[in-house]
Amino acid sequence: MEWDAKKYNTTHDFIFKYGAGLLELLPKEPKKVLDIGCGTGELTNQIAELGHEVTGIDQSINMINQAKESYPQLNVLQEDILNPSKRIGLYDSVFSNAVFHWIPDQELLLKNIAEHLKVNGQLLCEFGAVGNVQAIREAFGHELNMLGIVVEEPFCFTSVKDYRVLLLKHHFEIVEILEYDRPTPLKGGRSGLREWMEQFYAGELNELSKEEKETAFRNMERDLAPKLWKEDHWEADYRRLRIHALKK
Ligand code: BEZ
Repeated sequence: MEWDAKKYNTTHDFIFKYGAGLLELLPKEPKKVLDIGCGTGELTNQIAELGHEVTGIDQSINMINQAKESYPQLNVLQEDILNPSKRIGLYDSVFSNAVFHWIPDQELLLKNIAEHLKVNGQLLCEFGAVGNVQAIREAFGHELNMLGIVVEEPFCFTSVKDYRVLLLKHHFEIVEILEYDRPTPLKGGRSGLREWMEQFYAGELNELSKEEKETAFRNMERDLAPKLWKEDHWEADYRRLRIHALKK
């Protein structure tokens, strides 16, 4: 999927605003940091402002171009952590926000991260936990089923229990691992849910006619309102897994 970098940066800016809490767990002294899935570079830039020597990578060229336009001084590269080139190098910390749930092969992901971390290097990441945006996913799945479309979700939303096993298997020592609800207000008032869907389910929505899409949105808004409509905005039912681990 190619990302809409402009919307990511404005309408969906909660993505990196929430990620800022993770930054507090980075070392206080300057370190070499790799930001995996850096997107438009907001958090990468904040990491640089904390005094670290940071490299941001993202496989989306739209995101990398936007990051370079906004922060020309940053070192950002179009790279895929599942198939990294030699230019990535070795780091004290690997940081990542709202990215790992897009990666089906978590084993390869952790193996490659470990290869780019020094011994005792830090993995700091946060991404979707089991049950993430479940109400929205179920409502959309229902609409697609009604149209005879079988849903194959691309996401890997995982649990503390399962991720703990993976981390230990890849020789990480766990400092902290936690799962928590993070209800997230969406911008855009009444149309906020549609706009969120357009960003994150662009591929699936492209398969629908204009009329089918409109009907799906209307039905979803009707069915989800009792749970997710909060007076003047939609609140997405995000759940997060936060990990702080050390490579041994
Ligand atoms: C998330 O960041 O949790 C997310 C992103 C896209 C779709 C669903 C959830």
